Amino acid sequence: MSYLLETKDLTIRFGGLVAIKELNTHIRPGEILGLIGPNGSGKTTFLNLITGIYKPTSGDIFFQGKSVVGAPPYDMLRKGVARTFQNNRLFSNLSVLDNVIIGMHHKQRSQWYHAVFRSSFAKRELREAARKATELLEFFSRELVEDRYRKAIELPQAHRRKLEICRALASEPLLLLLDEPAAGMDPEETQHLMEDIRKIRKRMPDIAIILIEHDMNVIRNIAGRVIVINYGQKIAEGAFSEICQESCVLEAYLGEAAC
Ligand SMILES: Nc1ncnc2c1ncn2[C@@H]1O[C@H](COP(=O)(O)OP(=O)(O)OP(=O)(O)O)[C@@H](O)[C@H]1O
Ligand SMILES: [Mg+2]
Repeated sequence: MSYLLETKDLTIRFGGLVAIKELNTHIRPGEILGLIGPNGSGKTTFLNLITGIYKPTSGDIFFQGKSVVGAPPYDMLRKGVARTFQNNRLFSNLSVLDNVIIGMHHKQRSQWYHAVFRSSFAKRELREAARKATELLEFFSRELVEDRYRKAIELPQAHRRKLEICRALASEPLLLLLDEPAAGMDPEETQHLMEDIRKIRKRMPDIAIILIEHDMNVIRNIAGRVIVINYGQKIAEGAFSEICQESCVLEAYLGEAAC
């Protein structure tokens, strides 16, 4: 099966710091790839490269077989790449429902002037978006449906993280990038998050997911394959049970003394 995403010798420098160095990896449709590494190892930078926030210093990124280097973030979203952020980036003062509807924005056809003149076309499109957004919330979380008219800022942290995933899913992505979705969650909330990710797979079996997590329980239970990076370089790759055995992984996390 061909790759949905492939990187070849992907590199980015910030001055003297090489944040990602000659990284070669890939993901297939339907796969969940875990991306782990110590703090500052380049995980978020990798997502920023894939989503077009950063442009690589060298190397290439292929999405559905075509190079996407230089494509801006809105274009990557249109192509089918959606993400959540390490620190929630919701529209805090908008309602839960509006946050999900915004995730569909790039698929809507009405223009700003349709909205200004409250055309029936714009109203119809908005009604349909609200229906779809509610349906997505219903599938994903009962609590979020109940809270759909509340401001995002009023939600507990775990629900805000769920809402961010919902907003990303509203764009109907082919590739979903989750940057530490379990951060700040207690064990019960983390358990629910894992069930949510399984639900996504059931509803969208072809969606590919790159999951960054420090909680190894989540990675062990959810990721089919894991890559480990340290100082921007891939140091190990394989099933979770395999990479755990690698001394370079233990060394990266625990220091030389541990090995
Ligand atoms: N825009 C930037 N300018 C300069 N340095 C940057 C920039 N973005 C990232 N870096 C540096 O690149 C390195 C990798 O950062 P990154 O945020 O990708 O790490 P991370 O693996 O996501 O860490 P964490 O687990 O703490 O989230 C760090 O040294 C960081 O300071
Ligand atoms: Mg990060």
